[in-house]
Order: sequence, then C-alpha cells, then structure tokens
Amino acid sequence: MLKRGMAAVAALALASSGAAAQETVKIGLVLPMTGQQASTGKQIEAAVKLYQAQHGNMVAGKKIEVILKDDTTVPDVTKRLATELVTNDKVAFLAGFGITPSAMSTAPVATQAKVPEIVMAAGTSSITEASPFIARTSFTLAQSSVPMAEWAFKNGIKKVVTLVSDYGPGIDAEKSFSDKFKADGGTIVENLRIPMRSPDFSPVLQKVADAKPDALFVFVPSGTGAQFVKQFVERGLDKSGVKLIATGDVTDDDQLNGMGDAVVGVINAHNYSANHNSALNKSFVEGFKKANSGMRPNFMAVGGYDGMHLIYEALKKTNGDTDGTKLMTAIKGMAWESPRGPISIDPDTRDIVQNIYIRKVQKVDGELYNVEFDTIANVKDPVKAAKK
Ligand code: DHB
Repeated sequence: MLKRGMAAVAALALASSGAAAQETVKIGLVLPMTGQQASTGKQIEAAVKLYQAQHGNMVAGKKIEVILKDDTTVPDVTKRLATELVTNDKVAFLAGFGITPSAMSTAPVATQAKVPEIVMAAGTSSITEASPFIARTSFTLAQSSVPMAEWAFKNGIKKVVTLVSDYGPGIDAEKSFSDKFKADGGTIVENLRIPMRSPDFSPVLQKVADAKPDALFVFVPSGTGAQFVKQFVERGLDKSGVKLIATGDVTDDDQLNGMGDAVVGVINAHNYSANHNSALNKSFVEGFKKANSGMRPNFMAVGGYDGMHLIYEALKKTNGDTDGTKLMTAIKGMAWESPRGPISIDPDTRDIVQNIYIRKVQKVDGELYNVEFDTIANVKDPVKAAKK
C-alpha cells in the first residue's frame, strides 16, 4: 500500500513537471537543411539563431524552444515532419518552408491542428489561400515581377523572353511579368521554362540567343542563380546585347559575390538587399556575419528573422496563450520595421506587404551588391489584389 502511495506521489511529481513543461512554447522549424535548397535552410537557421541571441528565449513568461527538422527539400517529408511536430511535440507554431510544395503540403496539417504555419521562404501567391492558419514573412514572386516589368518598359525594353523554373513561383513570375509588360505595350517573344530540379540551361539559352530579344527576364530559386549566370556567360549571352533582368532571387546575396563581373549592371527587383541602407539592416548584417564566419545574409535570412519577430510579438499580444485562432488574430495587421524596410501582415490575406526595390548590381568596396535605386512602397501581393 505504502509502495502504491509512493508511486502515486511519483506520478504526481511527474505530472507537475509536465505542467512546467507546458510553460515552454515550441516552434517546429522545418527547413531544407540538405538537398537542392540547403542554402535556404542554412540562411534561415542562422537568422532564427541570431533573432534568439538578440531577443532572448523568454516571451510572455514562457520559454521558447525551436525544434529544427530537415525536410531534405522533399515536400512529403515536410508534411510528415510537420505532422509529427504537431502530434508528438505539441508545437504551437510550424515555421520555415523552403519551397512552395513544402509550404503547400503542410497547409492541411496547419488547418486541422489549428496551428499557425509561418512561411519564411516560399513565394507562390496561392500559398496563403491554402489554409487560414498560414501567414507569410517572405514575399511573392508577383510582388517583384510586376515592378520589374514596369521598369523594363519605361526604360526602353520592348521585346522580352522570359525564363523561369517550372513550378509555382516560376509560373507566377512568368505570368505576372508577362501580363504587366504586355499591358504596358511590350512584346513577350517567348515564355521558356526549365525543370526546378537539376536544371540545365543550355537548350533554353540557345533559344534566347536565336530570338535576340531586348532583354531576358529570369526567375530561378535561391541557390540556383550562380549556375544560371555561369551558363549565360559560357554561351556568350552577356556580350550578345541581350540585357539580363531578373527577380532578386537570381542575384541572391548568398551567391552574388561569386558571380563575377558578368553580373555588374544587372537590373533586378526584390524585397531585400544586404546593402539596404538603414541602421537596423547594418546591425543585422553585422550580427549575422559575425555569428556565421562572414556569411552574408540573403532574403531568406530576413524572412526567417521576421518570422521569429512575428511569432514573438504574437505571443506577447496573446499574453503567452498558444491558442492558434488567437495567435492568428494577433498576427493579422501586425506592422514593424524589418532589416528590409517597413513591413506588415495584410489582415485580409495574411500575406506580407513590403517595399520592392529596383536594384543594380554594382561593386561596393570591392564586393558585388544589389544597390537599390528606386522604391515601390508597400506592395501587396498583386495576384490577390487583382482578384478583389
Ligand atoms: C521559392 C523558392 C526560392 O528559393 C525562391 O527564391 C523563391 C520561391 C519557392 O519555392 O516558393
């Protein structure tokens, strides 16, 4: 009997340590740490760590614990890991999502569990429509492609070939660029697509050389730009008179410095440059480089950093309450200064509203940077805006 009594006491002690464990708020961070998009995972993991180093791991009296899982750039794995994080680890947030198919595969998990899914990287417009529990701190491809089209036509470019990765964000980039460019009076000579996985640019670049457009507009995902530029140069296209214009995914800060002089002068549109001129960005870049052996943060890092801010501030607003519906209410309409500039979460769509910058690749102190020279302020996702 006595033994039983002791067992009961032990069980109670266990239960109360369980209660203490509830004071921990867990974030399931699912990223491609290996596989094709590993650079995205590396950038976001570093940014999440930096955010926690700067802001601590206590929010509204609760300890924040980040559980990092590698989805190996495979969407089915993302979904399985997200399900396990919700079911076994009882995470209050799902976050990360390096590619569109991964963000999409997890949407039903977020909806069913009523757990906020914070998309820190992926950029297809429709992602936020896949679940009412999704909010995004990255970008949409239409946000950068429409301003790029507008700039191109205004600056004397009349005939364009587009070249995109053949999946969600590429198709959005192709359509939003082409629609805007044609509406302004330009001609789209051809829409070319290449596979997202292991792309070989040679066949399509031959087509570009034959078509001789004024400009080639390109989107490839983060981490693929250097390979594209290498083949563009190998084919002699940099000297052919075909101007290269792009979304900033191509002239990614993670790889830009290694792309060589061929990219000097390339005009592109995007949400973030490591060269962005603000006090907050300067300290962000400095802190990031210091903690990561000199690695330069890219737009993925900023999406991760801001995603953590969104999570911390939402928890502050709910006073530590992890009810998913209350957290989503807290997230809607939130506005703050990011290293990229002012941003907010559109309360109607849960998508990000941000400045888009027109930039030119230039040498600054011997290094290549995207130097911003024009700003389109507070851009909402054009695809969703057009549906209204
Ligand atoms: C996506 C991935 C990227 O690396 C990028 O630069 C843009 C979009 C995506 O899969 O949504």
